[in-house]
Amino acid sequence: MGALPASKYGKSWMDDRQFRSWAELLEERTGMVLPEERRSFLVTGVGLRMREVGFTDFDAYYEYLASGRAGRVEWAALVDHLTVQETRFFRDPKALALIEAHFLPRAAARVAAGNSVHVWSAGCATGEEAYTLGMMLDEHLSNEGLPRYYGITGSDISLQALSRARQGRYSNGRLGSVPSRYASLYCQPAGSLRFEVVESLRRRSCFTQLNLLDDVAAVLPGMDLVYCQNVLIYFDQARRVRILSNLMARLRPGGLMILGPGEAMGWSAPGVERIGGPNVLAFRRLEAEEGW
Ligand SMILES: C[S@@+](CC[C@H](N)C(=O)[O-])C[C@H]1O[C@@H](n2cnc3c(N)ncnc32)[C@H](O)[C@@H]1O
Repeated sequence: MGALPASKYGKSWMDDRQFRSWAELLEERTGMVLPEERRSFLVTGVGLRMREVGFTDFDAYYEYLASGRAGRVEWAALVDHLTVQETRFFRDPKALALIEAHFLPRAAARVAAGNSVHVWSAGCATGEEAYTLGMMLDEHLSNEGLPRYYGITGSDISLQALSRARQGRYSNGRLGSVPSRYASLYCQPAGSLRFEVVESLRRRSCFTQLNLLDDVAAVLPGMDLVYCQNVLIYFDQARRVRILSNLMARLRPGGLMILGPGEAMGWSAPGVERIGGPNVLAFRRLEAEEGW
């Protein structure tokens, strides 16, 4: 890899030693594995943040991050530059069709029986996925004449993404992927260039910072639906398995877990059955006595 010319900000390229230390730090703290092909992504993300806070040298910035409370606060800001937060409303039609067929009728039955339903969008980025699931569930319960006894939790490692998710405001361009019947029910103009998710849905949605590698049992209720797409791809096999057992542990008996196609090839676990066709990666936790 040839060195890039030094910029006015100082050395603008990581040498091999620096790249290894930065990749190791990122892997240790987030679980994300950065192969050599993504060195320029790392250089750009770290470099941008260094400029924002006035550092000119990768080593000095690394030392700062590794030290004390200020370093931990700064780490939270850097993570925003190093995670891929690409997302959109109604992103995966095949997975959403599975939700219509396998989840919504059961969710309605649970609400009709006096229970509330909990949905978790794990790795929700700026919230579009969480609101998508909320719109589908809300509309279904309303069509069935049932009360809206549900909660949506979105979680992510990025504080900046979560703050945008909480606002629930998006540029009008994002509206293109929202089917018109949902747009008319759940999206309203917020100025000429933006729209917002209606308050009734935002009130039932909560966004919280979680590192998926941590044990999340204490902070989340038993989930009826765990939806985790385009997140596991950034982790190596061992961490994927660890995250999957964390996700599965939050699923109530009878609940569904939906992943992105190909994100957990060959994964299986006791008490879990694969459901859906070949284009959707979905699992159901088998019923226990206290099941659905
Ligand atoms: C490509 S986005 C996927 C967004 C959404 N799930 C979708 O499919 O449209 C990946 C998200 O995973 C988050 N992420 C990465 N590592 C994480 C970790 N260790 N714990 C929690 N979230 C993480 C990133 O911040 C980012 O917002």
